[in-house]
Amino acid sequence: MRFRGFALIGLSLAMLVSCAPKKETGRTATMKKQSFGKTAAGVDVDLYTLANGNGVEVAITTYGGIVVSLKTPDRAGLSSDIVLGFDSLDGYLKGHPYFGALIGRYGNRIAKGRFTLNGVEYKLAVNNGENHLHGGIQGFDKVVWKARDVSTPEAASLELTYLSKDGEEGYPGNLSVTVTYTLTAKNELKIDYLATTDKDTVVNLTNHSYFNLAGQGQGDILGHEVTINAGRFLPVDAGLIPTGERKAVGGTPFDFNRPMTIGARIQQDDEQLKRGKGYDHCYILNGSGGALTPAARVHEPKSGRVMEVLTTEPALQLYTGNFLDGTLTGKGGKVYQFRYGFCMETQHYPDSPNQPDFPSVVLKPGAKYQTTTVYRFSAEAAR
Ligand code: GLA
Repeated sequence: MRFRGFALIGLSLAMLVSCAPKKETGRTATMKKQSFGKTAAGVDVDLYTLANGNGVEVAITTYGGIVVSLKTPDRAGLSSDIVLGFDSLDGYLKGHPYFGALIGRYGNRIAKGRFTLNGVEYKLAVNNGENHLHGGIQGFDKVVWKARDVSTPEAASLELTYLSKDGEEGYPGNLSVTVTYTLTAKNELKIDYLATTDKDTVVNLTNHSYFNLAGQGQGDILGHEVTINAGRFLPVDAGLIPTGERKAVGGTPFDFNRPMTIGARIQQDDEQLKRGKGYDHCYILNGSGGALTPAARVHEPKSGRVMEVLTTEPALQLYTGNFLDGTLTGKGGKVYQFRYGFCMETQHYPDSPNQPDFPSVVLKPGAKYQTTTVYRFSAEAAR
């Protein structure tokens, strides 16, 4: 009898617990801040970890606004880190090919580091052969951003701001930049870019995360199946500057209108693939008219992970890690070999300041540069 009594009490307790309002652990967005060290100049750098309670977690540092890690579940629900990077600030300070970084003022290349605006010629750093790349010597990837937690109960949101002074890296105008990273309950990493200026200038901001949906350091990315919503791409010259042609992808190894692995055609005897040492080309997205539009989808068959890219930008640079060569050791001692990561950098066309036929990248005082890109994560059952 006594035992039965205890059992009953136990049962009612269990019922009480299960009837109690469910703690929303599965949905609670959180943000954690910790120190990530100091720059060589002694500036404090922080690391913010955003989690959505659904197994997705992203860590972002105020140094370069870099996405240091991004953990998403595979088809079995197991989370792995799917971006390349370093365990500590030191790795980033030593120099790297823009792992996870915010890129500005101008993502991609400007021919010979020169452009003319309102009759004035501006000279930028030449840091990539004879061209300017990704904002120059000290681009937005190498500055310390101010951070503010702007989370809501639904989503963890980190706002990063930076004032790029008139003349910085040769660009005109004081450019005030705000980038907001939001991790949504729908397993999306949303990046909102905003900029204003006090003088006519050019702007083209992006993020340079290297993804490997099988997990960072887990081999090359050649088996990833890619779809890109683009009928045309921009062929490049030997210095990777667009020639001006907008070439139809049909019948070329650049056609990703139907899912194709990155590796299926990358070795083909194609002049453009040779110039890029693989894919390192800008795709003109279909129907991109400022609205958030599906740009690409990537599926990694072993893990089942899927990444969808949506953007308001008119173009997307597909870069397949062709300059990775095993000289960098990243997180957890993983060595980043040739093509161990790929980038999908949403942006305006490269070299637009020198190519009047390309959509304009000019920002004027009183106007707002405003773009959004979403990386959405899920997993697919085995086929
Ligand atoms: C960009 C460029 C590539 C390369 C990488 C960084 O994506 O298009 O050519 O410079 O950055 O290594």
